[in-house]
Amino acid sequence: MRKFVMLLITISLLTLALAACGGGGGGGGDQPPVQAGAPAAAAGDVANGAKLFKSTCIACHGEGGVGVQGLGKNMTTSEFIAGLSDAELIDFIKKGRDPSDPLNTTGVAMPPKGGNPALTDENLVDIVAYVRTLHK
Ligand code: HEC
Repeated sequence: MRKFVMLLITISLLTLALAACGGGGGGGGDQPPVQAGAPAAAAGDVANGAKLFKSTCIACHGEGGVGVQGLGKNMTTSEFIAGLSDAELIDFIKKGRDPSDPLNTTGVAMPPKGGNPALTDENLVDIVAYVRTLHK
């Protein structure tokens, strides 16, 4: 009888352990998509950002953001970019930096939204996510 009770206890413990594992595993299975979804929504889609960069920014900032002499600045070593939050960087891209701006360093205009007014806020979030990957 005692053995039987022990067996019952063992079985229920095993069942509990399995349930915990199953629950944990299930939760773990659910979590990555949720976690991947939240930062992606907040931080932007790098692949789409790369696409938009290639259609709007690359003409002046070059392949991989290395800059083009006499046009856009090098983004891979930019302290300015590194020092801004994503929101500040989006603000900057929206305004651009006219040569009349005392902060302009080249005498060449960085046009608002890179000269592409069709870019939405969401597009800019994606572009910023891509620009972050360029920094060395
Ligand atoms: C017509 C050319 C041109 C296009 C297109 C362009 N830029 Fe620029 N960008 C510039 C120039 C020129 C500067 C440097 C301005 C200065 O002298 O301070 C600059 C500067 C910047 C800076 C600041 C870099 C630093 O270190 O100060 C960022 C960030 C930037 N551009 C982002 C973008 C993004 C993102 C796009 C695409 C949406 C884009 N630019 C499209 C010309 C351009």
